[in-house]
Amino acid sequence: MLQENIRYVLVWSGWLRLSHWLLAAGVLFQIVSAWALAHDEVNYTFWLDWHLIAGQVILLTLVLRVVLLFIPVSRKWPGSSNWRAFIPERSQLQAMLQMLKFYLSLARFPLPNWYAHNPFWLPIYPVMFFVLAACAISGLLYNSSHIFLQYPMYELHGALASLIIIFSIFHIVTAFLHDLKGKGAFISAMVNGYRYFHYTGLNDGEESHSLHKQSVSISVDSIKKPVVDKQVKVDES
Ligand code: HEM
Repeated sequence: MLQENIRYVLVWSGWLRLSHWLLAAGVLFQIVSAWALAHDEVNYTFWLDWHLIAGQVILLTLVLRVVLLFIPVSRKWPGSSNWRAFIPERSQLQAMLQMLKFYLSLARFPLPNWYAHNPFWLPIYPVMFFVLAACAISGLLYNSSHIFLQYPMYELHGALASLIIIFSIFHIVTAFLHDLKGKGAFISAMVNGYRYFHYTGLNDGEESHSLHKQSVSISVDSIKKPVVDKQVKVDES
């Protein structure tokens, strides 16, 4: 009898989710307010004030995210916010390649499984934290005469903002694509903290070991979406 097991596992702590949604809302607001500032017919002072306030909220959120990098792993803190989570393991390098195949095949290749951060995006997230911080700081120095690598602050701010917009578009589209094609409930995991893990043929010891190592081994069969309710164990026959 082949049995598929489903585990419901906490992968994102409450503080990480808070930092994510503050960053997401802040960035989306900055895009709208920057667009408004470029149009003559809007109230310039109103939008500039809110653009500056949102920029400072983003900076404070990044400080929170940096603090989370140093919180040790525990029951309440599943480790996904810790700096160690950004060092790819060997199994994640393989999953990165599988992700690339998934994107290049326009989502026809099966989506690999992962624990918290998607393996392909894993190295991009810390770069994004730097870019967001640099963009916010260059925004605060927008009208100053400071120069960085020959770029005046207003040029640097614009260039970094463009990078953030490109990241946001790909990030949001792929987050929805993963949710559509996978069965881990990736977006709701960023809301409630929990993800589903499907696995077959592992005994309890091996399974919890692999969950702790941040990668879960699953059979290719379990990657195919079965018709199941939210039950813990599914008998296939
Ligand atoms: C509606 C919009 C958004 C949705 C649905 C969304 C969804 C998600 C999901 C599902 C993850 C986990 C992805 C994974 O498996 O790797 C994630 C992570 C992340 N997202 Fe978003 N996201 C949104 C907007 C944004 C925006 C605008 C930004 C910033 C520019 C952002 C920055 C990040 C970062 C940095 C992470 C990594 C989490 C961490 O370690 O702090 N997201 N997002």
